[in-house]
Amino acid sequence: MEGVQKPQGSVVIIGAGTQGRRLAHMWSSGGGTVCLVDLQEQQLQDALKYVEQLRADATDHEGDWGKIETSQPSSLQSTLKDAWLVVECVPENLNLKRKLIIQLDELAPEGTIIASNSSSYGIFEIIEGMSLKNNKRVMSAHCYWPPETSAIEIMGHKDSDPRLIDLVLEQCKKHGFSPFHVKKDSIGYIYNRIWAAIKRETLLTLSEGVATPKEIDAIFKDVLKTPKGPCEQMDVVGLDVVLDIENHYAESRSGIPTEPRDYLREMIQGGNLGVKNGRGFYDYEEQNIIGLVVEFVVAIDEARVRFTDDAHLFLVFYMWNPPRTHRWLGSRKQSVDY
Ligand SMILES: NC(=O)c1ccc[n+]([C@@H]2O[C@H](COP(=O)([O-])OP(=O)(O)OC[C@H]3O[C@@H](n4cnc5c(N)ncnc54)[C@H](O)[C@@H]3O)[C@@H](O)[C@H]2O)c1
Repeated sequence: MEGVQKPQGSVVIIGAGTQGRRLAHMWSSGGGTVCLVDLQEQQLQDALKYVEQLRADATDHEGDWGKIETSQPSSLQSTLKDAWLVVECVPENLNLKRKLIIQLDELAPEGTIIASNSSSYGIFEIIEGMSLKNNKRVMSAHCYWPPETSAIEIMGHKDSDPRLIDLVLEQCKKHGFSPFHVKKDSIGYIYNRIWAAIKRETLLTLSEGVATPKEIDAIFKDVLKTPKGPCEQMDVVGLDVVLDIENHYAESRSGIPTEPRDYLREMIQGGNLGVKNGRGFYDYEEQNIIGLVVEFVVAIDEARVRFTDDAHLFLVFYMWNPPRTHRWLGSRKQSVDY
């Protein structure tokens, strides 16, 4: 690839789900065009509404917002024609991601940078064994949730063009992200690795009977001043998801202790999946409507939810599933990464 130019053209995002629509907002914040691609028309329409709301809520934005176009994967080649960057944001399935990266490498113009937002698989794992037309332009660009979390981690691989990594880091900064460069192939991103170590040691501490979940969360919050402790946070993510992630680390690295996974497996076999089924380290079925109303009022006060738009959602949600209502409110509170 010859000299790296200032990027011209659009950003294409494949997958208009939780992360894709948020990325559409960020990448259109500087006035550039974003093309959102999804198999489901409903997801595209919901994504447009979501971006409209984020724009309406943005109080300190200067300049024009960029256009957001939508399209189906069937017209991918023409959508990619003017793209300087394409980010895949499809579900976390390695085969799906591998197929998509091959397709993007075939269809995208030579100069288009190809990035993956995968949480579990670094780009070096996704492209392993592939013979791509141009592997120098592929990288990971992993961001977080909720949308207020500005961190994004950029990770190349052994053959990445460092000028393209620098370009993406610089452009991320211009579009409201706080970019971090993962400088080596890494199983897990910088934050995820640290969070994985906290989860692992928490589970080990529990398995040894040193402290209870309540005590661990209380001391963690007291010292670090975080809104949630590790057990509460694992409950939000889902203990089955936590186990999958820990299994992935254990398969890819040596020296990962077995006790935390054994402990998790026992909890899962005992029917404890976390907030999603009402039982994890804590019992969420016990929390009653009064507790939820208090939580909702606090959330309005903290402007995590808008009363007019969200009150009906809250009630319908509660009648359907109280634990999920907690989860919905909690997800608006803090970073829920894996
Ligand atoms: N949700 C999070 O908080 C979070 C945080 C960081 C990273 N991620 C990563 O982002 C990626 C997407 O996660 P998500 O939570 O946004 O998923 P999601 O399920 O909310 O959205 C995925 C979207 O991709 C669409 N899709 C599926 N196959 C497609 C295809 N072949 N072509 C076009 N569209 C297709 C689906 O219709 C759906 O709208 C995953 O790799 C995940 O690990 C998610």
